[in-house]
Amino acid sequence: MLKHWKLTRDADGIAWLAFDREGATTNTFSSEVLRELRQAIEQVRLVQPKGLAVFSAKENGFAAGADIEEFTSMKDADEAWAFIMLGNEVFDTVAALPFPTVALVHGFCMGGGTELALACKYRVADDSPRTRMGLPEVMLGIVPGWGGAKRLPKLIGAAAALDLMLTGRSVDGKRAKRLGLVDAVTPRRHFENAARRMLLENRPASVPDLLAAATDWPLVRDLVARMSAKKVAERVRRDHYPAPYAILDLWKDFGGDVRAIPAEHPASMRSLFAHPTTRNLIRIFTLQERLKAFGKEENADVKGTDPKTGKPGSVPMHVHVIGAGAMGGDIAAWCALRGMTVTLQDLAPERIAPAIKRAAALYKKRLREPHLVRAALDRLIPDVQGNGVARADLVIEAIVENAEVKRKLFAQVEPRMKPDAILATNTSSIPLQELAGALARPERLVGLHFFNPVAQMMLVEIVRGPQTSDEVMQAGQVFARQIDKLPLPCKSAPGFLVNRVLSPYLLEAMLMVDEGIAPETVDAAAKDFGMPMGPIELADMVGLDICAAVGQELAKPGTPTPKLLEASIAARHFGKKSGQGFYKWIDGKAQKKPPGQADLKALADRMVVPALNEAVACVREGIVADADLCDAGVIFGTGFAPHRGGPISAIRERGKDAWLRTMADLEAVHGERFRPDPGWSAI
Ligand code: NAI
Repeated sequence: MLKHWKLTRDADGIAWLAFDREGATTNTFSSEVLRELRQAIEQVRLVQPKGLAVFSAKENGFAAGADIEEFTSMKDADEAWAFIMLGNEVFDTVAALPFPTVALVHGFCMGGGTELALACKYRVADDSPRTRMGLPEVMLGIVPGWGGAKRLPKLIGAAAALDLMLTGRSVDGKRAKRLGLVDAVTPRRHFENAARRMLLENRPASVPDLLAAATDWPLVRDLVARMSAKKVAERVRRDHYPAPYAILDLWKDFGGDVRAIPAEHPASMRSLFAHPTTRNLIRIFTLQERLKAFGKEENADVKGTDPKTGKPGSVPMHVHVIGAGAMGGDIAAWCALRGMTVTLQDLAPERIAPAIKRAAALYKKRLREPHLVRAALDRLIPDVQGNGVARADLVIEAIVENAEVKRKLFAQVEPRMKPDAILATNTSSIPLQELAGALARPERLVGLHFFNPVAQMMLVEIVRGPQTSDEVMQAGQVFARQIDKLPLPCKSAPGFLVNRVLSPYLLEAMLMVDEGIAPETVDAAAKDFGMPMGPIELADMVGLDICAAVGQELAKPGTPTPKLLEASIAARHFGKKSGQGFYKWIDGKAQKKPPGQADLKALADRMVVPALNEAVACVREGIVADADLCDAGVIFGTGFAPHRGGPISAIRERGKDAWLRTMADLEAVHGERFRPDPGWSAI
């Protein structure tokens, strides 16, 4: 009797194998699941059906890939290797079945899910946008190890396969069909018919068209490999991110079969497992799951309709945003993209118009189909009068960063809100207690702190003021999930978590520029450490006026103010938005010279250590519940070198003592801003 797979046979002689992992809402592959699949396949082979259809009995999707929990709890590389061998062996058995097989894919079908589908002769995908197929292993620092790297290039050509494997991105059913990854796309209700027809007709399996196939031919292969390697090298370094390089080696030299790579080769699974990046990336994945769990709907106290399911319940149906500037405009646009009705208020229509224009561009890029773009734009309603306040389930304030002005606005807005609606502020630095004073229902005020650019940054800090009720906190968290962001509960203290950690890092970078080090050199040092963007370029992007305002709010006594920053602001050089900051900006790009000669590691340490120190302080003060959440917040809110696993993980990796020695040396030269926080003793 199998626990995770259900096998039936119908009158046409077709075997149906349902994947239904016991005790879980999502299908994943554990060793037990794989061993049972092997048993199920043996049983199918015995009955010799005309064909086999594999599908998922779960509502949310086909399979999410390997069971990460089991994978991360493995005691050593031998155990992990055995797991990889098992998956390969079982999927090879599926591929070798003497009768046709089809995978019926709905919802997410990631990693091992796609690899099982690839082992089948045919694939059918649900036409809903919720279908997501892909091989995201690279994001965990590993390679598709259960035959995906072997079978995908053969099916869709090497160029398209490498693109999917190197970026880890997923595709919906329609795109999968265009790529040749699936043979048919139909609504899920037609799966059975589609499977029956395919299995009984038993046509030859799909092959890539000539052009796609050519990318896998030996001579063209080298060229494709070189081009892909160049693209990878532009994005990441091998010592920071070995997995994309390993994927290229695996495809080019080992036919995509991980079993063929010698253990000591840098592309082998053993080498990848031993690399700290892999450990850190897997940890980030589990942290992301933890953040998602904060948004589970239990106890949520927001009313409305779920835009995805149409079910009445816990999600705010109507969001009213006040302030259509850089943040408010984009928050409103994002909420409407995610299915909510949004009214957007500002002082005059001409202040709202640019936000609508940006929204239209976003929808075009994300939704593509004109009727979907239209529908999203219809959900985003300009509202100078603020009529939406009275109907909204959630009101988000994103006006100027001034406590007095915000309090005044709250006094006007609160009496007009529905009694059970939630009031949220996007303030980046003002503690909620300073804003809640005049409210009749301070328990319904919560901070929803988004990051710039809203469409790209995953994190939203959910800020709890001293009076915020548990239900309202929970509702804020659920709301963030509903719009596909990652909620991070934070205590209300200046700068919350992310800006507080980021601020001293930016400050130190600017002080180095004041000392005469070229901005390009400072940025190069940060990138050498693994930051996705240098701090000077980042400051120019965020806006120097905003950096200065947040910096002032968070400055500690005795901290110097960067002179060039002050001078830039006096000259109204605000960075990217004004065309000039530390860099000159042309067509949205910073104009950079080559970096100068310098000890990049020393420069990076000098910028990074103040951020680490502040992260330690945040953990000590309980701004977030624990050190793991601090790492998660800083990574998802700033892009902090993901392969280093976040600030606390970076401390542990190099060793606390080494960092404290660096701080002592820097304190001797630069003074008290390098004094270690008392929290270091607990790290
Ligand atoms: P912004 O200056 O681009 O936009 C503010 C908008 O609010 C302007 O369009 C203004 O006309 C409008 N406004 C001012 N008073 C108003 C009132 N009484 N009623 C209606 N509209 C009014 O500012 P930005 O950058 O969008 O910031 C807004 C808030 O978001 C601030 O609290 C800021 O601290 C916070 N924030 C900013 C981030 C950034 O990177 N810019 C990041 C995260 C939060």
